[in-house]
Amino acid sequence: MAKKGQIIAGALAPHPPHLVYAENPPQNEPRSECGWETLRWGYERLRKSLEKKDYDVLIIHSPHWRTQVGTHFLGVEKFKGLSVDPIFPNLFRFSYDLKVDVELAEAIHDEAQKLGMVTEMMRNPDYRVDYGTIVSGHMTNPSWDKPIVGISSNGGARYFNMDVMQATMMKLGQATKKAVEASGKRAVLLASNSLSHRHFVKESPIVEDMSKEHINNHNQYLWDMRMIDLFRKGKTQEVIDIMSDFTEQATAETDGGSLSWMLSALDLPDYPATLHGYGTVIGTGNAVVEWDHLNQGADV
Ligand SMILES: [Fe+2]
Repeated sequence: MAKKGQIIAGALAPHPPHLVYAENPPQNEPRSECGWETLRWGYERLRKSLEKKDYDVLIIHSPHWRTQVGTHFLGVEKFKGLSVDPIFPNLFRFSYDLKVDVELAEAIHDEAQKLGMVTEMMRNPDYRVDYGTIVSGHMTNPSWDKPIVGISSNGGARYFNMDVMQATMMKLGQATKKAVEASGKRAVLLASNSLSHRHFVKESPIVEDMSKEHINNHNQYLWDMRMIDLFRKGKTQEVIDIMSDFTEQATAETDGGSLSWMLSALDLPDYPATLHGYGTVIGTGNAVVEWDHLNQGADV
Protein backbone atom coordinates (compact mmCIF):
# COMPACT_ATOMS: atom_id res chain seq x y z
CA MET A 1 0.00 0.00 0.00
CA ALA A 2 1.27 3.48 -0.83
CA LYS A 3 2.63 5.59 2.02
CA LYS A 4 0.07 7.98 3.44
CA GLY A 5 0.99 11.61 2.98
CA GLN A 6 0.58 14.18 5.70
CA ILE A 7 0.57 17.85 6.46
CA ILE A 8 3.44 18.12 8.90
CA ALA A 9 3.05 21.82 9.71
CA GLY A 10 1.10 24.93 8.90
CA ALA A 11 2.41 28.45 9.28
CA LEU A 12 1.12 31.95 9.20
CA ALA A 13 3.80 33.40 6.94
CA PRO A 14 3.18 37.08 6.12
CA HIS A 15 4.62 38.59 2.95
CA PRO A 16 5.57 42.27 3.39
CA PRO A 17 8.21 42.78 0.66
CA HIS A 18 10.15 44.81 3.26
CA LEU A 19 11.28 41.55 4.86
CA VAL A 20 13.00 40.32 1.71
CA TYR A 21 14.40 43.81 1.11
CA ALA A 22 15.91 43.82 4.61
CA GLU A 23 17.45 40.35 4.11
CA ASN A 24 19.43 41.47 1.02
CA PRO A 25 19.27 38.16 -0.86
CA PRO A 26 21.13 38.10 -4.19
CA GLN A 27 17.83 37.76 -6.10
CA ASN A 28 16.57 41.17 -4.94
CA GLU A 29 18.01 44.25 -6.63
CA PRO A 30 17.55 47.01 -3.99
CA ARG A 31 19.93 46.98 -1.00
CA SER A 32 19.03 47.77 2.60
CA GLU A 33 20.91 48.48 5.82
CA CYS A 34 18.65 46.60 8.23
CA GLY A 35 15.04 46.56 9.36
CA TRP A 36 12.05 44.61 10.75
CA GLU A 37 14.37 42.29 12.69
CA THR A 38 11.78 40.90 15.09
CA LEU A 39 9.89 39.45 12.15
CA ARG A 40 12.97 38.31 10.30
CA TRP A 41 14.26 36.58 13.43
CA GLY A 42 10.81 35.02 13.70
CA TYR A 43 11.19 33.59 10.21
CA GLU A 44 14.66 32.35 11.17
CA ARG A 45 13.09 30.40 14.05
CA LEU A 46 10.42 29.02 11.71
CA ARG A 47 13.08 27.87 9.26
CA LYS A 48 15.07 26.16 12.03
CA SER A 49 11.98 24.39 13.26
CA LEU A 50 11.00 23.20 9.77
CA GLU A 51 14.55 22.06 8.99
CA LYS A 52 14.20 19.46 11.74
CA LYS A 53 11.12 18.05 10.04
CA ASP A 54 11.63 16.51 6.70
CA TYR A 55 9.18 17.84 4.11
CA ASP A 56 8.70 17.60 0.35
CA VAL A 57 6.62 20.58 -0.67
CA LEU A 58 5.41 24.03 0.42
CA ILE A 59 1.77 24.80 -0.34
CA ILE A 60 1.20 28.57 -0.44
CA HIS A 61 -2.15 30.36 -0.47
CA SER A 62 -1.69 34.00 -1.46
CA PRO A 63 -3.93 37.06 -1.02
CA HIS A 64 -2.07 38.71 -3.93
CA TRP A 65 -2.99 36.18 -6.55
CA ARG A 66 -6.63 37.18 -6.53
CA THR A 67 -8.93 35.37 -8.92
CA GLN A 68 -12.49 36.64 -9.17
CA VAL A 69 -13.95 33.39 -10.51
CA GLY A 70 -12.98 30.30 -8.56
CA THR A 71 -9.68 29.07 -7.13
CA HIS A 72 -6.70 28.70 -9.45
CA PHE A 73 -3.52 26.63 -9.11
CA LEU A 74 -0.08 27.14 -10.65
CA GLY A 75 0.06 24.45 -13.30
CA VAL A 76 3.47 24.75 -14.98
CA GLU A 77 6.56 22.95 -13.66
CA LYS A 78 8.91 25.95 -13.65
CA PHE A 79 8.45 29.70 -13.45
CA LYS A 80 11.24 32.18 -13.96
CA GLY A 81 10.99 35.96 -14.12
CA LEU A 82 11.22 39.30 -12.37
CA SER A 83 8.65 40.13 -9.73
CA VAL A 84 8.22 43.84 -9.01
CA ASP A 85 5.99 44.91 -6.16
CA PRO A 86 3.45 47.35 -7.63
CA ILE A 87 3.30 49.44 -4.43
CA PHE A 88 6.96 49.16 -3.43
CA PRO A 89 8.99 48.89 -6.65
CA ASN A 90 11.76 50.68 -4.73
CA LEU A 91 12.06 47.70 -2.34
CA PHE A 92 11.20 44.59 -4.29
CA ARG A 93 12.56 43.69 -7.71
CA PHE A 94 13.12 39.99 -7.26
CA SER A 95 14.40 37.49 -9.83
CA TYR A 96 12.59 34.26 -9.11
CA ASP A 97 13.23 30.78 -10.41
CA LEU A 98 10.93 28.24 -8.85
CA LYS A 99 9.63 24.72 -9.27
CA VAL A 100 5.99 23.68 -8.94
CA ASP A 101 4.65 20.32 -7.81
CA VAL A 102 2.09 20.20 -10.61
CA GLU A 103 0.97 16.67 -9.73
CA LEU A 104 -0.05 17.72 -6.21
CA ALA A 105 -1.60 20.96 -7.49
CA GLU A 106 -3.76 18.95 -9.87
CA ALA A 107 -4.74 16.56 -7.09
CA ILE A 108 -5.91 19.43 -4.84
CA HIS A 109 -7.69 20.97 -7.84
CA ASP A 110 -9.54 17.68 -8.46
CA GLU A 111 -10.50 17.21 -4.80
CA ALA A 112 -11.80 20.79 -4.64
CA GLN A 113 -13.86 20.19 -7.77
CA LYS A 114 -15.39 17.10 -6.18
CA LEU A 115 -16.58 19.34 -3.35
CA GLY A 116 -18.35 21.56 -5.87
CA MET A 117 -15.78 24.35 -6.00
CA VAL A 118 -15.03 26.30 -9.17
CA THR A 119 -11.37 25.61 -10.01
CA GLU A 120 -8.84 26.17 -12.79
CA MET A 121 -5.25 25.15 -13.52
CA MET A 122 -3.08 28.10 -14.60
CA ARG A 123 -1.05 26.83 -17.58
CA ASN A 124 0.52 30.03 -18.91
CA PRO A 125 4.33 29.53 -18.72
CA ASP A 126 4.88 33.32 -18.85
CA TYR A 127 2.60 34.00 -15.91
CA ARG A 128 4.21 36.40 -13.41
CA VAL A 129 4.07 34.77 -9.98
CA ASP A 130 2.70 37.21 -7.38
CA TYR A 131 4.91 38.67 -4.65
CA GLY A 132 2.77 37.21 -1.85
CA THR A 133 3.71 33.70 -2.94
CA ILE A 134 7.33 34.69 -3.53
CA VAL A 135 7.95 36.53 -0.23
CA SER A 136 6.37 33.83 1.96
CA GLY A 137 8.17 31.13 -0.03
CA HIS A 138 11.51 32.90 0.17
CA MET A 139 11.36 33.75 3.87
CA THR A 140 10.41 30.14 4.70
CA ASN A 141 12.85 28.44 2.33
CA PRO A 142 15.41 30.89 0.89
CA SER A 143 17.26 28.14 -0.93
CA TRP A 144 14.14 27.38 -3.01
CA ASP A 145 15.25 23.75 -3.04
CA LYS A 146 11.71 22.42 -2.65
CA PRO A 147 8.80 22.71 -5.06
CA ILE A 148 5.75 24.74 -4.22
CA VAL A 149 2.06 24.50 -4.89
CA GLY A 150 0.65 27.98 -5.56
CA ILE A 151 -3.03 28.58 -4.81
CA SER A 152 -4.94 31.75 -5.63
CA SER A 153 -7.27 33.56 -3.27
CA ASN A 154 -10.78 34.34 -4.37
CA GLY A 155 -12.63 37.63 -4.56
CA GLY A 156 -15.82 36.14 -3.12
CA ALA A 157 -15.67 38.35 -0.02
CA ARG A 158 -16.47 41.35 -2.18
CA TYR A 159 -18.71 39.66 -4.74
CA PHE A 160 -20.80 37.73 -2.18
CA ASN A 161 -19.73 38.43 1.40
CA MET A 162 -16.99 37.60 3.88
CA ASP A 163 -18.76 34.57 5.38
CA VAL A 164 -19.35 32.96 1.98
CA MET A 165 -15.70 33.33 1.01
CA GLN A 166 -14.43 32.03 4.38
CA ALA A 167 -16.75 28.99 4.12
CA THR A 168 -15.41 28.25 0.63
CA MET A 169 -11.85 28.37 1.94
CA MET A 170 -12.76 25.89 4.67
CA LYS A 171 -13.80 23.52 1.88
CA LEU A 172 -10.55 24.15 0.05
CA GLY A 173 -8.67 23.24 3.26
CA GLN A 174 -10.38 19.87 3.40
CA ALA A 175 -9.65 19.25 -0.28
CA THR A 176 -5.99 20.11 0.34
CA LYS A 177 -5.74 17.70 3.25
CA LYS A 178 -7.30 14.85 1.29
CA ALA A 179 -5.02 15.40 -1.70
CA VAL A 180 -1.88 15.59 0.44
CA GLU A 181 -2.78 12.36 2.25
CA ALA A 182 -3.33 10.54 -1.04
CA SER A 183 -0.07 11.92 -2.49
CA GLY A 184 2.22 10.17 0.02
CA LYS A 185 4.06 13.49 0.44
CA ARG A 186 4.94 15.53 3.51
CA ALA A 187 3.66 19.07 3.09
CA VAL A 188 4.03 22.39 4.89
CA LEU A 189 1.17 24.86 4.41
CA LEU A 190 1.76 28.61 4.33
CA ALA A 191 -1.02 31.12 4.87
CA SER A 192 0.60 34.17 3.30
CA ASN A 193 -1.06 37.04 5.12
CA SER A 194 -0.65 39.83 7.65
CA LEU A 195 -3.05 40.15 10.57
CA SER A 196 -4.31 43.76 10.95
CA HIS A 197 -3.64 45.55 7.71
CA ARG A 198 -4.26 49.25 8.06
CA HIS A 199 -1.06 50.88 6.89
CA PHE A 200 0.61 54.24 6.61
CA VAL A 201 0.28 56.09 3.34
CA LYS A 202 3.65 57.86 3.51
CA GLU A 203 7.05 56.23 3.51
CA SER A 204 9.85 57.67 5.64
CA PRO A 205 12.92 58.97 3.74
CA ILE A 206 14.96 56.02 4.97
CA VAL A 207 12.53 53.14 4.51
CA GLU A 208 14.26 50.91 7.05
CA ASP A 209 14.32 53.63 9.72
CA MET A 210 12.85 51.61 12.58
CA SER A 211 12.25 54.71 14.74
CA LYS A 212 9.26 55.31 12.43
CA GLU A 213 7.80 51.80 12.63
CA HIS A 214 4.85 51.07 14.91
CA ILE A 215 1.32 49.72 14.79
CA ASN A 216 -1.10 51.93 12.87
CA ASN A 217 -3.55 52.24 15.77
CA HIS A 218 -4.45 50.70 19.11
CA ASN A 219 -7.60 48.99 17.85
CA GLN A 220 -5.53 47.06 15.33
CA TYR A 221 -3.06 46.05 18.03
CA LEU A 222 -5.82 44.77 20.32
CA TRP A 223 -7.20 42.63 17.51
CA ASP A 224 -3.76 41.22 16.69
CA MET A 225 -3.16 40.32 20.34
CA ARG A 226 -6.57 38.68 20.59
CA MET A 227 -5.87 36.48 17.56
CA ILE A 228 -2.37 35.55 18.71
CA ASP A 229 -3.71 34.64 22.14
CA LEU A 230 -6.23 32.28 20.55
CA PHE A 231 -3.53 30.71 18.34
CA ARG A 232 -1.32 30.09 21.36
CA LYS A 233 -4.16 28.58 23.37
CA GLY A 234 -5.20 26.22 20.59
CA LYS A 235 -8.58 27.87 20.21
CA THR A 236 -8.78 27.86 16.44
CA GLN A 237 -12.50 27.13 16.30
CA GLU A 238 -12.94 30.49 18.01
CA VAL A 239 -10.58 32.05 15.47
CA ILE A 240 -12.87 30.81 12.70
CA ASP A 241 -15.97 31.98 14.59
CA ILE A 242 -14.68 35.55 14.76
CA MET A 243 -12.77 35.55 11.45
CA SER A 244 -15.27 37.70 9.57
CA ASP A 245 -15.50 40.29 12.37
CA PHE A 246 -11.72 40.36 12.73
CA THR A 247 -11.25 40.73 8.98
CA GLU A 248 -13.67 43.62 8.71
CA GLN A 249 -12.80 45.47 11.93
CA ALA A 250 -9.03 45.12 11.69
CA THR A 251 -9.02 45.55 7.88
CA ALA A 252 -7.12 42.28 8.10
CA GLU A 253 -5.42 40.56 5.22
CA THR A 254 -7.36 37.43 6.12
CA ASP A 255 -9.80 38.79 3.50
CA GLY A 256 -8.17 36.43 1.01
CA GLY A 257 -9.09 33.37 3.11
CA SER A 258 -5.52 32.07 3.48
CA LEU A 259 -5.71 31.56 7.24
CA SER A 260 -9.14 29.87 7.12
CA TRP A 261 -7.88 27.53 4.39
CA MET A 262 -4.85 26.53 6.43
CA LEU A 263 -6.67 26.04 9.74
CA SER A 264 -9.29 23.93 8.00
CA ALA A 265 -6.62 21.74 6.37
CA LEU A 266 -5.17 21.20 9.87
CA ASP A 267 -8.67 20.23 11.12
CA LEU A 268 -8.86 23.29 13.41
CA PRO A 269 -5.99 22.52 15.79
CA ASP A 270 -6.72 22.49 19.51
CA TYR A 271 -3.04 22.28 20.44
CA PRO A 272 -1.00 25.43 21.06
CA ALA A 273 0.72 27.12 18.13
CA THR A 274 4.25 28.49 18.40
CA LEU A 275 4.60 32.23 17.98
CA HIS A 276 7.97 32.76 16.31
CA GLY A 277 7.66 36.53 16.06
CA TYR A 278 5.38 39.55 15.86
CA GLY A 279 6.13 42.93 14.35
CA THR A 280 4.69 45.76 12.32
CA VAL A 281 5.49 46.74 8.74
CA ILE A 282 4.34 50.20 7.67
CA GLY A 283 1.85 49.97 10.52
CA THR A 284 0.37 46.54 9.68
CA GLY A 285 0.43 43.70 12.22
CA ASN A 286 2.36 40.58 11.25
CA ALA A 287 2.95 37.34 13.09
CA VAL A 288 5.04 34.33 12.13
CA VAL A 289 3.22 31.42 13.74
CA GLU A 290 3.72 27.68 13.40
CA TRP A 291 1.31 24.84 14.01
CA ASP A 292 3.52 21.82 14.61
CA HIS A 293 1.00 19.39 13.20
CA LEU A 294 3.35 16.41 13.20
CA ASN A 295 3.75 16.51 16.97
CA GLN A 296 0.41 18.22 17.65
CA GLY A 297 2.25 21.04 19.39
CA ALA A 298 4.17 18.69 21.71
CA ASP A 299 7.46 20.44 20.90
CA VAL A 300 6.16 23.79 22.09
FE1 LIG B 1 -0.18 41.88 1.18
